[in-house]
Amino acid sequence: MAWLISLEPAMDDDELADLSLGARTYVQYCTACHRSDRSGSPESGYPSLRNLDGRLDRDVVENVIENGRNMMPAFGSQLSEDEVEALVAFLYGEEEAAEGADRETGETQPGEIPKFLTKFPGIHDF
Ligand code: HEC
Repeated sequence: MAWLISLEPAMDDDELADLSLGARTYVQYCTACHRSDRSGSPESGYPSLRNLDGRLDRDVVENVIENGRNMMPAFGSQLSEDEVEALVAFLYGEEEAAEGADRETGETQPGEIPKFLTKFPGIHDF
């Protein structure tokens, strides 16, 4: 399947190691469809994951990650409980993306992946 190939993060191990668990999990498993800035591609059916707080229930988010929904694949068998928990914390802006993330780019909002750490090209057409 084409999307499996695009799930490969375009970051090397050192760069990934700089990220928090939630951000790393996001980069590895989610950017292919939801983009590194989490804006997705709503016009193509890939929803934005920005500002989830107040918009989506945590239980719903966890459930979608673990069981999938429509075109969204299930990740329950690939991710540990810790990874899912960290991922949800990252999505809700409760976990910093990386220690010292602002060393090159200035400020980084919690929950954002610092640009210098991700060279992921972004959205793919499937
Ligand atoms: C292969 C593409 C793909 C990947 C990879 C993917 N998603 Fe999704 N995701 C989707 C699609 C498509 C939807 C919309 C599902 C629907 O229409 O019901 C979605 C929906 C969601 C939703 C619900 C959003 C809403 O507004 O209801 C969440 C939360 C979500 N994804 C999180 C994630 C996380 C976290 C990851 C990484 C573990 C991830 N997704 C990986 C395609 C993907």
